[in-house]
Amino acid sequence: MMKHLVRKLRKAILDERTYKKDFIYLINEKVLAKSGSEKDVRHEYKMAKYLRKKGISIPRAYGLIKIDFLDAKLIPPFKPVTTWFFLMEKIQGKEIKELQGAELKSALRQRKRELEKVLELGITPYDALYERNSLLGKNNKLYLIDFKSWRKAPREKLDAFYLNLLQYSL
Ligand SMILES: Nc1ncnc2c1ncn2[C@@H]1O[C@H](COP(=O)(O)OP(=O)(O)OP(=O)(O)O)[C@@H](O)[C@H]1O
Ligand SMILES: [Mg+2]
Repeated sequence: MMKHLVRKLRKAILDERTYKKDFIYLINEKVLAKSGSEKDVRHEYKMAKYLRKKGISIPRAYGLIKIDFLDAKLIPPFKPVTTWFFLMEKIQGKEIKELQGAELKSALRQRKRELEKVLELGITPYDALYERNSLLGKNNKLYLIDFKSWRKAPREKLDAFYLNLLQYSL
């Protein structure tokens, strides 16, 4: 499965088949590869696995891929450039800014509920209140995305985030 995906990812990179951002590649209609530093990518993958196990509504995490490319600029000493990718399920959905009325209300309610569960795990979901970091998928189900800055945090930080959450929810 992984070998097959590596081939597909290399092709997506060469074809410059990006999705939304220049660092996210579209492997196919169901799988995205988000690139970043080894540290960020590993953290996001680990966090995704943990959150999903705990029942938080997020995309499925498929794995990590490391690709060594020869320096594309062809400048000696032709060092390979290593890039790390986090593979995940692509959610077909709308961002909060595209929603209104009952859909918007439902999305914000669900976001609040999911984020309360995250805080109960002792994790501060930094950036989760940005509209672009939630997607309302099919069947009106909300997914949280983008966990690279989420961290285990002390009580004061969790409480401070909770106040923000109340302010930006319904
Ligand atoms: N699993 C996914 N399914 C569908 N769309 C996604 C998924 N992951 C990311 N996206 C889209 O790509 C955008 C950027 O992804 P993400 O938020 O993870 O990257 P980022 O580094 O945090 O960028 P930003 O700083 O803009 O938040 C998202 O706002 C969303 O539109
Ligand atoms: Mg984001």
